[in-house]
Amino acid sequence: ASLAALDRRVPLPHRTQDRRLPVAGTAQTAFANVPDTDPAVPGNIAWSRDILARAAASTAGAATSDAALVTTADDLDAVLGSATEAGRGWGALPGTERAGLLRRAAVELERHRAELVEVMAAEAGKTVDQGDPEVSEAIDFANYYASLAEELDRVDGAVRRPVPLTVVTPPWNFPVAIPAGSVLAALAAGSAVVLKPASQAVRCGAVLAEALWAAGIPRDVLRLVRVGEHELGSRLVSDPRVGRLILTGAYETAELFRSFRTDLPLLAETSGKNAVVVTPSADIDLAVRDVVHSAFGHAGQKCSAASLVILVGSVARSRRFRDQLVDAVASLKVGPPTDPTSQVGPLIGPAEGKLLKALTTLDPGESWVVRPQRLDEAGQLWSPGVKVGVADGSEYHLTEYFGPVLGIMTAATLDEAITMQNRVAYGLTAGLHTRDASELATWLDRVQAGNLYVNRGTTGAIVRRQPFGGWKRSAVGAGTKAGGPNYLVGLTDWAPSASTA
Ligand code: ALA
Repeated sequence: ASLAALDRRVPLPHRTQDRRLPVAGTAQTAFANVPDTDPAVPGNIAWSRDILARAAASTAGAATSDAALVTTADDLDAVLGSATEAGRGWGALPGTERAGLLRRAAVELERHRAELVEVMAAEAGKTVDQGDPEVSEAIDFANYYASLAEELDRVDGAVRRPVPLTVVTPPWNFPVAIPAGSVLAALAAGSAVVLKPASQAVRCGAVLAEALWAAGIPRDVLRLVRVGEHELGSRLVSDPRVGRLILTGAYETAELFRSFRTDLPLLAETSGKNAVVVTPSADIDLAVRDVVHSAFGHAGQKCSAASLVILVGSVARSRRFRDQLVDAVASLKVGPPTDPTSQVGPLIGPAEGKLLKALTTLDPGESWVVRPQRLDEAGQLWSPGVKVGVADGSEYHLTEYFGPVLGIMTAATLDEAITMQNRVAYGLTAGLHTRDASELATWLDRVQAGNLYVNRGTTGAIVRRQPFGGWKRSAVGAGTKAGGPNYLVGLTDWAPSASTA
């Protein structure tokens, strides 16, 4: 859709007063996070209802074609050739010039907010309260990486060499924010990008690319391709012209891709199995709210989602946390994203495999306190489940499920809880609810995860404030944290040093 048409169809959201504050930092241009759409502003209710009506119509029709925006596998060779060529020119631009285009991209992303939220609802089942912050995050990535591109130029320009071509393969669960972050980082670092959206979220990738092209990012510097998983590995990833691969997905996928070309530097953010520890000093009301939000936002389909809560000492013995949690979870409204009252939307596809097992069966010692129910024929809509009695070292404790199910474990001490938190192979996010400074210090010292959240949910990392990336099997390759100060470094090469002395 052209921007003019978009503006006619759906007015821009009413924003609250701009809350930007100047941020102290090394960059000359201060960076500030943009606010999400405020649902308390009356006009925004109509704004989001409009979006959902359009998403419902496009889901029903399923006629929207993205054919003009994608490339068939046969064209891949030509795409890789022209993008590599274009990347050399793009990388030769001063960082300040690339930064200027990224800032324009931020403006275009804001202008495309309604359309992006709409495709996220239609394709990925995202409710407005889940999709809208993704657009904010994408805008933040554009502005933040613009300021880093300027720094790269000013501080280190002489010793860094852009990589002509980067391939980006994002997941379906954050079908706007994650591809936006990866693409914008590579562009900021001076690389052309071939973006292969997740097969479940091709239109999200297409609208994102439209916004970036509308900002003036040249079409041959950002290419959108649609290829099957086989071509992705055998032809895209293994092509010697590709200089970097940014992948977000399962740990096994990253390992598989690495096997296609072992010399290709990979920046991969992979799986998680994340737990929140609640100690006796915690604010229980806050802990319940944060756990519910972290476990069941987007139906639990986030690498950052809380899938376990570990209750310590008297919190485990008393029924208060558990009872409040049960009430809160049982009252969540489950439904399609096109219903504005839905709080938990559908799964991306029918529950199957290990997720289906986690939703329908219990291991010895476990019991449901909220039993998940299948609510539709297709098996995509499930009411959330909560189980107690999850044993240390059990299958549920150690497995990532990516769905609306939460397990409760108990520990006698904080030390024991941290040991349980660390027993998983992954290390993406971890939460602690406490009001005790020494508990906090102990936890910070011992817990093994890339993103640590205290008295806050485990999802929704904020660009720059909470650079995002994992330890252990939650990261593969050379990546530093996305949305953090060093991310662009991994997307550039060292230039050879020459000396005449
Ligand atoms: N960056 C996403 C989050 O923090 C994965 O939830």
